[in-house]
Amino acid sequence: MSTPNQLDSLLIKAAFSQKTESPPVWMMRQAGRFMPEYWEIKNKYSFLEMCKTPEIAADVTMLPVDLLDIDAAILFSDILVTGEAMGGDLSFTQGIGPKFANPVRTAADVDALETEVGDRLQYVADAIKVVQQRLNGSIPLIGFAGAPFTVMSYLVEGGSSKDFKLTKLMLHNHPELAHKLLAKIAKVTTDYLNLQIAAGVNAVQIFDSWAQALSWDDYREFSHQYIQQIIAGLHRKDIPVISFCKGSSVFAPLMAEAKPDVISIDWNVDLKDMKHRLPAGMAVQGNLDPHILYADKSVIKDRIHRLFERMRGEDGFIFNLGHGIMPDIPFENVKYAVEVIKEFRY
Ligand code: CP3
Repeated sequence: MSTPNQLDSLLIKAAFSQKTESPPVWMMRQAGRFMPEYWEIKNKYSFLEMCKTPEIAADVTMLPVDLLDIDAAILFSDILVTGEAMGGDLSFTQGIGPKFANPVRTAADVDALETEVGDRLQYVADAIKVVQQRLNGSIPLIGFAGAPFTVMSYLVEGGSSKDFKLTKLMLHNHPELAHKLLAKIAKVTTDYLNLQIAAGVNAVQIFDSWAQALSWDDYREFSHQYIQQIIAGLHRKDIPVISFCKGSSVFAPLMAEAKPDVISIDWNVDLKDMKHRLPAGMAVQGNLDPHILYADKSVIKDRIHRLFERMRGEDGFIFNLGHGIMPDIPFENVKYAVEVIKEFRY
């Protein structure tokens, strides 16, 4: 099947900084636990089963497409599937989150990780093909991967962490080992995103969720340069690259040097000010504080309008949250937010 061309869609036009009649909208974690319909599926399968069964991954990817009037679908999967494919023993437990039972902490652990893993991620390519059949050209599909530093943090800590103590210790005491690990993840991530592009995604986003834990110098050395390598290695004609991190309100000017098409900005900074600090033609995505979606509808409307008034006249603006939707945000508030956004015209 040939991939539907999405160059005229709101999302891809805005990502390439072309004029759009209104800003496109999608939201990180738009397919997930805040939706009652997600639980109907989740109660029958484990999270990894959902990711690895193309028909189910496609069903979940389509939930926000069918229930919210969003302008892009994002593939249902997880950033940690690359770590699993490299040899990580991954599981997800309700209330605990992701766990790698065999953390990567020594030189032998790093050496044991595999880097030719395309076959193990074929289920993602299969899911992309099913989703594109279902979308049938209506809106673009975003593929994604975790950035090497964020994936490394899960592999080294063995799961989620508040302070990234072991990961940072590896960066500081054993930088050569950290670089070896990061280089392996970067190689796998480049291949993985190219596999998604070959399977038919229309855009890709790189998630460096925990970059904010790093100092400026450490971010440059241990995160930025690998993201730069990945972006440079993508076969991305007509496929915009979105670079996201928590901490982008500080790191965005450096992130721009890796030459993504779009930088996804957290909610700590004024989006227009940040856009003007970036090179001309670099689009921004963001940056509503997701906690606004817990608030009263009048507050939701007011904050969305404030952001849009601020961005009036700016080409290259994609509405999103500064980070993902939390699982206990009321579904009707998300639906309302999308309605407010879709009513807006520049
Ligand atoms: O955005 C989307 O709707 C697409 C799907 C998606 C998921 N994870 C589904 C998911 C995406 C893009 C991700 C990325 C991801 N995964 C990130 C980066 C984005 C971010 O939010 O910063 C990170 C750090 C992970 C790692 C991860 N996966 C964690 C920490 C958890 C547990 C979270 C928690 O609050 O318990 C997951 C599990 C996960 N990934 C769920 C979903 C819908 C929940 C699984 C469940 O139903 O139990």
